[in-house]
Amino acid sequence: MAGAGDRSIAALGVSLAANLRVGSSHVSASATALAGQRILLCVGGGIAAYKSLELVRRLRDAGAAVQVAMTAGAQQFVTPLSFQALSGHPTRTTLWDGAAEQAMGHLELARWAERVVVAPATADLLARLAHGLADDLVATLCLATEAPLAVVPAMNHRMWRHPATEANVAALRARGVQVIGPDDGPLAEGESGPGRLSEPEAIVAALAGTAGPAVVASGLLQGLKVVVSAGPTYEDLDPVRYLGNRSSGKMGFAVADAAARQGAQVVLVSGPVQLETPRGVRRMDVRSAAQMRQAVADALPADIYVGAAAVADYTARAFSPSKIKKTGTGQSLVLDLVRTPDILAEVAQRADAGLKLVVGFAAETDNVADYARQKLTAKRLDLIVANRVGVPGSGFESDDNAMTAYWPGGERDFPPAPKVRLADGLVELIAERLRA
Ligand code: C5P
Repeated sequence: MAGAGDRSIAALGVSLAANLRVGSSHVSASATALAGQRILLCVGGGIAAYKSLELVRRLRDAGAAVQVAMTAGAQQFVTPLSFQALSGHPTRTTLWDGAAEQAMGHLELARWAERVVVAPATADLLARLAHGLADDLVATLCLATEAPLAVVPAMNHRMWRHPATEANVAALRARGVQVIGPDDGPLAEGESGPGRLSEPEAIVAALAGTAGPAVVASGLLQGLKVVVSAGPTYEDLDPVRYLGNRSSGKMGFAVADAAARQGAQVVLVSGPVQLETPRGVRRMDVRSAAQMRQAVADALPADIYVGAAAVADYTARAFSPSKIKKTGTGQSLVLDLVRTPDILAEVAQRADAGLKLVVGFAAETDNVADYARQKLTAKRLDLIVANRVGVPGSGFESDDNAMTAYWPGGERDFPPAPKVRLADGLVELIAERLRA
């Protein structure tokens, strides 16, 4: 590149950088894992390609050296020059560029990479990778490299759910390809569902969390069995009334989904909720705490137990087969309640359950850290996730949450985000704690 071109590209880099969100606080944990890594970013042709610009920034902030290759479709959305400015290297766009090949042949580039990341990975690109095609530069690089491959899918939710795409993703996973995301939520064309490109920050974290070759091999929780409890329990008082908790089950369902996407075999024991079963998850529906305890016992042994259910603390000493009569105005009614079993504490104490990690949740209104740490110790957990309830836009029934995870000797803050995204982060943390 000539000197004048260098200067203009550098100037563009500065202005683009100023327009991109760069969160240094998220970078520190990833920095050690990715520092010095040579990452080849392959950009597919989807609207989410614009997010890959920020991904380049974040990877470089984490200390990685990044080179970029783009498909023809990707260039319809973002220009090679933008990636060039951000990566500090010429962007590769075709196999048939003699000058670029002379500077660094495509096979040399495939060898240069210590990690290949495809983001966004469109349905078409996933299909071509699954079938080992080499019909353009990106597919050829992915076929020629010996570096671990990660794909970050982004597409319309119907395309993501199509059996053809599912089969392609399964084939890639089975080959040891790391699949990051996709996120669930609003899609570019106005619909909603799974298909959003994971946020750059989450992609960097996923790449950093899987730096070890053993884990890259096939999903963070590949080969592990996870039992998740979710939702409220309803304790029937009489044929028409019950005691229950305000819980939508969204967090537990999101954790079950995230664990399944990371390759785990997942059993989801759910109280009464209005949610669809995540794909690939075995669901056991229950109503009361006693039924939940039994279902969890039936689902064990497992490697990981995540107690995300809001189990009622009390149940009626005796169920009244006939409807309890109202008392007169001004008169009180006394219910005779007994404690329910603490399912989580029981599970944590079962030596025969094969558990490597037991995770609890704590919904607190105040002194969150203190109460969470007390529960961590009292229930003998490996990890507890605390969230403050009673704050608008967080906690029960909300789609979003903010939480802090505590373990003996450490903690991690999860800033406010959709529960589906938090669940991905939590599953990554679970995988990290397992390895620790
Ligand atoms: O003690 P507390 O209800 O705050 O603890 C919350 C954690 O314990 C959650 O993980 C919840 O699923 C679990 N729990 C349980 N059985 C109970 C009460 C709570 O498994 N009876």
